[in-house]
Amino acid sequence: MDYRQQNPVPVPAKGPFQRVRATMDAVYDWQYALEDQKLLTLYEKGKKLGWNATDLDWSTHVDADRLGADENIADFFNSVLDPPRRFTKEVGLQYHVHMNSFMLSQFLHGEQGALVAAAKVVETVPWAEAKLYAANQVADEARHVEVYHRYLTEKLGISYEVHPSLSALLEDITEDSRWDVTYLGMQIMVEGLALAAFGMMKLVMSEEPLIQDITSRIMADEARHVGFGVLSLQKVYTSEMSSKELAEREEFVIESTHLLHDRLLPIPVFERLGWDVKTYGEWARHTPFHKAFRQMMFSKIVPNLKSLGLLTPRVREAMQSLDLLKFENEKNSVESPEVLPPAELVQLLVTRLQAPAAE
Ligand SMILES: [Fe+2]
Ligand SMILES: [Fe+2]
Repeated sequence: MDYRQQNPVPVPAKGPFQRVRATMDAVYDWQYALEDQKLLTLYEKGKKLGWNATDLDWSTHVDADRLGADENIADFFNSVLDPPRRFTKEVGLQYHVHMNSFMLSQFLHGEQGALVAAAKVVETVPWAEAKLYAANQVADEARHVEVYHRYLTEKLGISYEVHPSLSALLEDITEDSRWDVTYLGMQIMVEGLALAAFGMMKLVMSEEPLIQDITSRIMADEARHVGFGVLSLQKVYTSEMSSKELAEREEFVIESTHLLHDRLLPIPVFERLGWDVKTYGEWARHTPFHKAFRQMMFSKIVPNLKSLGLLTPRVREAMQSLDLLKFENEKNSVESPEVLPPAELVQLLVTRLQAPAAE
């Protein structure tokens, strides 16, 4: 790693270091059965496909004031987002840059969560092949932290502290003593959401080549991580757990769905820009595009939960209340590791752009 630190990431009010008490049993596997071929194949893939932050072209100029946005950015937002006050070009650019820096900052913090969680999985998961795989994932997550941090501080110059809802979820995941809950929280929920968000990021920053390269590389790694979560948990949840244990997992899924859904509301952006939080918060909660955007972020989580057998009546009810059940028949991350830009959102964009702009 060779770059000069600049534009440091803001530190949360609770201070630069946060201690979370993780109580767990570390497990040794002395039999080394190494019999789960699917996990071993993922492990091999992880080693072969490893890349380095230095493979990226850091000399790429990033126009941090516009991030690839064109002259019509305000018209575009006015038409698609229908803001409380029509955006001028200046405000449109500001919104575009800050929303992306907010999203990228949460990716960075989520990656640190993944780094800590993957390290915990190495200790707590019983099987040797899963330990080997998770160790490889630790190295992936370290690289993800490295590149997002560098992009935000060196190229963008604007960043946000961890969103309280994301921080609360990471805390839950770290504290929990059950290895499968670490997997479930990190690989299925946080990384499942990240995968959909990366698809979106590629779409909205299509004119910025460095972030395109970063996102493609990270997406390939994350698809493997989520696939690992699905493969490892499927057997446990469909055949090995009592109904009481499953009910606790349902509870966890429902709570983390709400926390992740909350974390997508860009309230910190409105605060930073000095916009009225109540007015703009309501706007972000209710405009069709923002709602569709938040829903699309669950397009991988829902089918993955279904293949784990966790789309139970209680979870379905919670998902339905956020209108997320429509994704249940999408392909899961093992059937389809790649993530395309969310078709429904693209369609919504096209429809809104074709409609005459609201006056
Ligand atoms: Fe990652
Ligand atoms: Fe990951």
